[in-house]
Amino acid sequence: MSENVRLAVYPRKGGPESITVVEAELGKLAPNQIRIDVHYAGINFADLMMRMGLYGAAPPFPFTPGYEVSGTIIEIGKDVRNRSVGDRVVAMTRFGGYSTIIDVFPDQSFILGPKIDLDAAAAMPVTYTTAYHMLVHLGNIREGDTVLIHHAAGGVGTAAAQIAAAKGASLIIGTSSAPKKEFVESMGMHHVTRGEDFIEQCKALTDGRGVDHALDPVGGRHLLKSYRALAKGGKLYAFGGSSAVPWKRPNLFAALWMWWRLPRFDPLRMMNSNKAVFGIHLGTWEKEDILQEQVKELISMHKEGVINPVVDSIFQLSDVAKAHTYMHDRKNRGKILLDCRD
Ligand SMILES: NC(=O)c1ccc[n+]([C@@H]2O[C@H](COP(=O)([O-])OP(=O)(O)OC[C@H]3O[C@@H](n4cnc5c(N)ncnc54)[C@H](OP(=O)(O)O)[C@@H]3O)[C@@H](O)[C@H]2O)c1
Repeated sequence: MSENVRLAVYPRKGGPESITVVEAELGKLAPNQIRIDVHYAGINFADLMMRMGLYGAAPPFPFTPGYEVSGTIIEIGKDVRNRSVGDRVVAMTRFGGYSTIIDVFPDQSFILGPKIDLDAAAAMPVTYTTAYHMLVHLGNIREGDTVLIHHAAGGVGTAAAQIAAAKGASLIIGTSSAPKKEFVESMGMHHVTRGEDFIEQCKALTDGRGVDHALDPVGGRHLLKSYRALAKGGKLYAFGGSSAVPWKRPNLFAALWMWWRLPRFDPLRMMNSNKAVFGIHLGTWEKEDILQEQVKELISMHKEGVINPVVDSIFQLSDVAKAHTYMHDRKNRGKILLDCRD
């Protein structure tokens, strides 16, 4: 008898209401893959952008989004040696994670052991790896460094704040919309309300120097402001373009406006001030071994209690449109997950 899988599909470019949840027949597992009974799937801002057709690295419509899942292995292919049925795992799926069951290659998965909760695990792969990749791998963050984090209350923002604190940052400045001030402060950051002059605040809080690291997922003109908030020798990480999607529906004008306002950095000026600008896109990062090392390191940091993912809310898979709307409405403080066990 064949088993069925339930999954969310983006049939075409559209708003949250365009997402459909369908049932499909489960195919045969490939000999070199494992099958995961998905408990939780992570929602990322990139999922919203790809639903709107604004994400270059997405597959063509129709497709199932979802970069990360946690769950239990229910079947292993006959050639797989290093995983067992019953293993609790977290997996980086690239796409397809919004599903009750998913097949992946074993090295896309990481065994969790009994102590890590599956909700915390699903909240980690994208957000924490992105933050770790920027601050630790590229940025070589050092004790005493100062850090500016935009979208500080969100998934990557809270992950970055925890990693920066774990590495001994002396000051973490976080920007967010006004209602999240207390939350951002509770995460150990100095809060600046979105839209306020964060350059001035960065300078004022560092005796005029500026910050050592600035994490900017906003894009457009905002990147130049983040660059100006840097100290000499500082590092800017350009890792998103949230200003391209101010609304729930695709708007080409907003996307073009964001792109048009992107700064063109002058290498001579960068040399003179020893500043660096990194472009980061985990979805197109090809050195899998480095990502895998990072995920393993993050899992052990979590086991040691050094980092602890903040899960804001968990929606049922059938309510995926509501989950997207919640993120569009800027309501999340931490990570949003889908419960795929329905
Ligand atoms: N390059 C990469 O590899 C990579 C990987 C992961 C994430 N990212 C980027 O990092 C950013 C954060 O991602 P995330 O998944 O952790 O999301 P998130 O920060 O948890 O959620 C979105 C939050 O961003 C803020 N925001 C700013 N502009 C927004 C807009 N136009 N619509 C809705 N919310 C907006 C809101 O917080 P406020 O209320 O504080 O404004 C909102 O709560 C995104 O730009 C994403 O594309 C990049």
